[in-house]
Amino acid sequence: MDKKTILSIESSCDETSAAVVVNGREVLSNIISTQIETHKKFGGVVPEVASRMHTEVINEVVQKALKEANVTLEDIDAIGVTYGPGLVGALLVGLQYAKGLAMATKKPLIGVNHIEGHISANYIQHKDLKPPFVSLVVSGGHTFIVYVKDYGVYEVIGQTRDDAAGEAYDKVARALGLGYPGGPKIDKLAKEGNPYAIDFPRARFAHEETLDFSFSGVKSAVLNYLNKAKMQGIEVNKADVAASFQNAVVSVLKDNVFLTCEKKGLDKIAIAGGVASNSALREALISEGEEKGIKILFPAPILCTDNAAMIGSAAYFRFIKGEESSLDLNAKPNLKL
Ligand code: KG4
Ligand code: ZN
Repeated sequence: MDKKTILSIESSCDETSAAVVVNGREVLSNIISTQIETHKKFGGVVPEVASRMHTEVINEVVQKALKEANVTLEDIDAIGVTYGPGLVGALLVGLQYAKGLAMATKKPLIGVNHIEGHISANYIQHKDLKPPFVSLVVSGGHTFIVYVKDYGVYEVIGQTRDDAAGEAYDKVARALGLGYPGGPKIDKLAKEGNPYAIDFPRARFAHEETLDFSFSGVKSAVLNYLNKAKMQGIEVNKADVAASFQNAVVSVLKDNVFLTCEKKGLDKIAIAGGVASNSALREALISEGEEKGIKILFPAPILCTDNAAMIGSAAYFRFIKGEESSLDLNAKPNLKL
């Protein structure tokens, strides 16, 4: 097979990342500069601050990615970059850098959808993975069930109507006083709690024949529960709250993704996005997958969180189909899959 080397850039939220990926599956470097410590002070990502910080580090991150991969710009076949969805100011930093580089080197530019990137992390982790399969993309900004029909060919089966799963984790964690980002903290605390202690609501839209999600109801129920306890002077068991909240979220994610497999007759589920690191989600999917003969695939945690290697993989599969983006490509904060 012809060897194709992609330099990729990701800056859609609070990670500035650059990677060098060969043939969509082999990562030569994946440099990630995270702004988490800065945004922690504000309890969430501040868009203006994120853009400025991307600008400060992007050149260094790209140079490090080339150096660590032991390649020069001459060895690169194409430049992949996230152009949406995400924070517009943050996206523009990576996109403008990539466009400048593409113009100077006369290499093709390939715009990548961030969600497609998350799904593609699975091609890096699982070298034999080929479509068709179902992907569950769960991150701080997105919750999607996607039927991956072929490389770059997607059908969205379900999505959240309000909060993303990770967003609900972050908001509940904040209410529990656990800090940002809240997902990993709830995951850890929940291990000490009883998942059946409190019956938080689970939104299902089965009667509408959709596999959409809603997490604002469960989030509000947790906040109400905490407020009520505070007003009554009752001390809450935080571990029980965390475990019960997590149980409500994980059970709808799990049920809807297995229903998709049933509907489409598929036997592989590839999880993606920051929440894919959640241990309860992993355990629940693996255990039901074993029962139903459905294979569950996860990327390593470093490929679950925002990173440029996943963008390089997605860009490769577009590149070999002959796709190329124009140098007029603009950032699309609400880009659809
Ligand atoms: O994919 P990601 O790094 O960034 C976005 O594109 O949003 O996802 C970050 C999200 C945050 O909401 C974070 O709280 C959540 O992923 N997260 C987790 C865990 N690790 C990260 N949520 C639950 N359990 C975890 N172990
Ligand atoms: Zn992401």
